[in-house]
Amino acid sequence: MVRDLAKRGISSLKPYIPGKPIEEVKRELGLKEVIKLASNENPLGPSPLAVQALREAISQVHLYPEDGGPQLRKAVARRLGVSPQEVILGNGSVEIIQAINIAFLNPGEKVVISDPSFALYRITTQAAGGEEVLIPLKDWRHDLEAMAKAVDGQTKLLFIDNPINPVGTMVTRRELEPFIERVPENLIVILDEAYYEYQEREDYPDSLKWVRQGLNVVVLRTFSKIYGLAGLRLGYGIAKKEIVEFLNQVRLPFNVNLLALKAAMACLENEEHCLRTRKLNRKEKRFLYEQLDQMGVEYVPSETNFIMIELGQDTRTFFQEFLKQGVIVRPLGGYGLPTKIRLTVGKRQENEAFIRSLKRIIRKRS
Ligand SMILES: Cc1ncc(COP(=O)(O)O)c(C=O)c1O
Repeated sequence: MVRDLAKRGISSLKPYIPGKPIEEVKRELGLKEVIKLASNENPLGPSPLAVQALREAISQVHLYPEDGGPQLRKAVARRLGVSPQEVILGNGSVEIIQAINIAFLNPGEKVVISDPSFALYRITTQAAGGEEVLIPLKDWRHDLEAMAKAVDGQTKLLFIDNPINPVGTMVTRRELEPFIERVPENLIVILDEAYYEYQEREDYPDSLKWVRQGLNVVVLRTFSKIYGLAGLRLGYGIAKKEIVEFLNQVRLPFNVNLLALKAAMACLENEEHCLRTRKLNRKEKRFLYEQLDQMGVEYVPSETNFIMIELGQDTRTFFQEFLKQGVIVRPLGGYGLPTKIRLTVGKRQENEAFIRSLKRIIRKRS
């Protein structure tokens, strides 16, 4: 049986469940209009400059891209005040999460992960034969004290998504600093800042400082969220040179495609698009909070472009009812939160459509 051939741990692995695609819902339910608020994508789309760069690059796709994306690495490094040797690009930041596991984790070594947090930490750990050590959140935030306590001589990796997906809360500079400074030499801490550009708090940690200080820290960021390039797949990691060198050892050639590289270069020159997106997100998040408050629906205030919402009942059926009304949300049963959904903050029309659907569903159920 093929099952017997699979590597140990792989057959029991629960694969990642992505947000349901718009086209699939249209096809399955025969709907013309469907809105997706399930994958934390940018409701404004990519920046016009990125679209222009893609148009120009399209005739070059018969050529392999420059391996490793040296130009983009240089541009990112200049912006962040690090050297290009301290930057690695990935086919989405998920690829770098996987590369960290492949390059650094021996089977049986431990990985400390908050529960819940971004699903890929567990999946890649299990795939690499690592042993996950799950630490429950405390008041919906990372329990840094418990995470630090869980680290022992067998622990190799520790993941912190800041803010946490699917919750949206963050740890502050003051909370994280003493934690990072105590990190032993045999441990690598991954600070996943996929929503970095959305958070607007002054007490957000300056994580790159720890990279510059030469600590075993990998900071992850992505072009999928505020930059609106999720479909092109491009994320990046920043870490000291020695760590990046090992990640490069396991990186596949040409892992980032030519179009993604060109579009990302253009994005970096378009701060305006980020500002517009952040402004929209701030305004629309407030709108959603107000609407949910009026309805007496609970949620966790978020530092990101998504909100975790409590619906009080198993959300699998809610999910189907939302779908029928052309609204795709993310049920969180897979994260061990069966009564919650995660909603991406969209444009006003989309948010209104969600609220209308929610009201209708609640009315029908009461
Ligand atoms: C915390 C976190 N990290 C990483 C990612 C993956 O991003 P990418 O599209 O760069 O692979 C996501 C995507 O949802 C995320 O929420």
